[in-house]
Order: sequence, then C-alpha cells, then structure tokens
Amino acid sequence: MKLNTLKLVNFRNYEKVNLKFSNHLNIIYGNNSEGKTNLVEAIYALSITKSFRINDDKMLIKNGCISTKIEGEVEDKSTNNYEVIINKEGKKVKINNTVISKVSDYITKINIVLLEPDEQMILSSSPALRRKKMNIEISKLEKDYIIYLNNYNKTLKQRNFYLRELYINGNASKIYLDILTDKLVNYGIKIYEARNNFITKINNYIGEKYQKIFGFGDLIIKYNSDYKNKTKEEIIDFYNKNYKREIAMGKTLYGIHHDDITFLLDKKNIAEWGSNGQQKNAIFAFKLSLIELIKDVKDSLPILILDDLFSALDNEKIDNIIELLNSDIQTFITTTELERLNKNLLKNASIFKVKDHLVEEEF
Ligand SMILES: Nc1ncnc2c1ncn2[C@@H]1O[C@H](COP(=O)(O)OP(=O)(O)O)[C@@H](O)[C@H]1O
Ligand SMILES: [Mg+2]
Repeated sequence: MKLNTLKLVNFRNYEKVNLKFSNHLNIIYGNNSEGKTNLVEAIYALSITKSFRINDDKMLIKNGCISTKIEGEVEDKSTNNYEVIINKEGKKVKINNTVISKVSDYITKINIVLLEPDEQMILSSSPALRRKKMNIEISKLEKDYIIYLNNYNKTLKQRNFYLRELYINGNASKIYLDILTDKLVNYGIKIYEARNNFITKINNYIGEKYQKIFGFGDLIIKYNSDYKNKTKEEIIDFYNKNYKREIAMGKTLYGIHHDDITFLLDKKNIAEWGSNGQQKNAIFAFKLSLIELIKDVKDSLPILILDDLFSALDNEKIDNIIELLNSDIQTFITTTELERLNKNLLKNASIFKVKDHLVEEEF
C-alpha cells in the first residue's frame, strides 16, 4: 500500500499542501515546531479520521479557519482517492468522491503503522491507555470489533446503573441484572477472543523481531484478562457469586474493561526492569510484528511512519533498524537532524524540507 499524493487545506499550520511521495522512503526534515509531525499526523488522520496525539478533531483545523480537508491518493490492488473533511459540526469521509456513512467501513482501508517519539512511555502508563492503543489496532484489522466494543460499553453503563438501582432499592428484581450480565458476557467474549487472537499472532513475530534488533533477549506479550481460560458458564457463575460486592461498590468489577497487556523480557516486566533502550526496542519490535500481521490479514504491506526518528528509536541501533525494514514498505521519517542519517539511505529517498508553513521537496 502506498500513499502517492497528499493534499491539505487549512490543516494545522498549513494553508495549502500538495505533495507527491516516493514509494519507498520519504524523509521530512526541519527545525522544531515547523510542522513535521503535523504532516505525518495528516497522513495518519487520512487513515483513521483522527489524530494520534489529540482527541478533539477540531484542533486539526488551522487556527481561524472553519474547516480542514485532507486528501490522498492511495495505491493498493487498485488506486483510490480518500478524503477526510472536518468542520466545527463534525466530519465527513469520502472514497472516490462518494460519502461513506459508516466510519467503520472507512478506517479499515488505509493501513498505517506509526511509531511515536517516546512511545515506550505507554509501557509504564495506565492500562486504559494500553487498551485504547490495542483497540485501535484491532479495529483496523477486524471490522466488527468496534461494534462489539460500543455494545459492551453501552451494556456496561446499563449494568452499572442497575447495580446502583439494586443498592437503593433492595426489592428490585435480580432477573434484569442477569439479563444484562448475559449480554455483557456475550460481547465481552467476542472482545476477549479478538484481543487474545491479536496478541497470539503478535507473539508469533515479536520475539524474533526483538532479537534481530537487540541481539538477544526473549520478548513476549502477556495478555491479562478476567475472562482468560474461562467458559461462558464459568464467567457467568463468577458474576453470580460476586454480584453482592458489585452492588455494594455500585459498579461492574470484572470484565474485559480491566484487561491489560504486559511486555515480558526474559520473563520480567520490561516496564519495571528494562532500560529505556530496551523499552524502545520492544515497542519497535511490536510495530514490526504489527506490519507482519497486517500483511498476513490484508495481503498488503501497511505504510510506516517513524515520527521524530531519533527520539523514537534507540540511537545506537538506528542503522541496523532501518535495514530491517522490508524494502517494499513505504516509509515516512521525520527528523530535525538530516545529517545523522546514513548517506546511502538519503541517496534513495525523497526529501522534504519543512519551513515557514511550507513543505518543499528537495531534488
Ligand atoms: N490548529 C493549528 N493552527 C495553526 N497552527 C497550528 C495548529 N496546531 C498546531 N499548530 C502549530 O504547529 C506547530 C507544531 O507543529 P509540529 O508538527 O508539532 O512541529 P514539529 O516540526 O516539531 O514536529 C506549532 O508551531 C503550532 O503552533
Ligand atoms: Mg514533532
């Protein structure tokens, strides 16, 4: 999969951008705050209609403007034109000029693997953030996942509400709670299976990828879930035994909304024991595994974005790491330090300089 062109109108600090990209390596360089990340953020938003660094889409609109448009031509088995238009009221997505009403139909089309600067922070941040990241990756691979997730969250809210109702009104019927529990578990099992499947497949690759980068060490992701190795009956039984505690607490205490993943290096949690370099390499090994997984599922290589290369990767290993990339994968790198990149790499790349709200290709 390749992004051939990118057109922006009033996106972040850019009024107009019109670019043609290389099928292989694209390097975007410039000083801090000139708009390098903004550019790759636009590519990412073309794929999943959202930014990776903010939740409020409206922030993507250039200050003082009323809307923004991101447009790109993507070549895969066929070549298609994609558009994301965001204004104060909401957003609209189009493929080949036709409006797509279901976003879940849109976001599975363009596959991007993105490495953010200092993304290893996620290893020691909250489980909620790790779940969110995992959800994004799985929903790009599995169309119905986002629907299960929305249904689960809706049922969870209803169940929590009813648990509080039971607390206030001791006479309220438990039958309705059982109905909600059954519903919750049905959606929960779908989500558990999708997550378990995802982690299992990532684990088929991640150990080998890590060793190629680092030389040694046994890396694996461990998936922790209340539903692990349990049948539906066992899960329901568990809720039945514990519902009084849930009533007392006024919320659902068990379920896939508490899931988490841990990266284990030589059986130890890398967030607690790993060096910063090891953590960065582990995240990158995860991204390389994701590339393989997408290739397996979609039968097409994703687009790779490495934002702020020298903060995202372990400095000493950068040349090794770049060499690990499949030469067919279209890659976007942003950096402030062009001179630190290998000369051979630069020779075969398209290079874009970002300055004063303009992007110019250097020939
Ligand atoms: N909505 C916006 N409208 C105008 N400028 C913006 C908007 N959002 C961010 N910017 C500007 O973009 C710049 C940061 O761009 P960024 O891509 O993060 O820089 P870097 O090159 O360091 O990656 C800042 O100067 C910021 O003021
Ligand atoms: Mg940046």
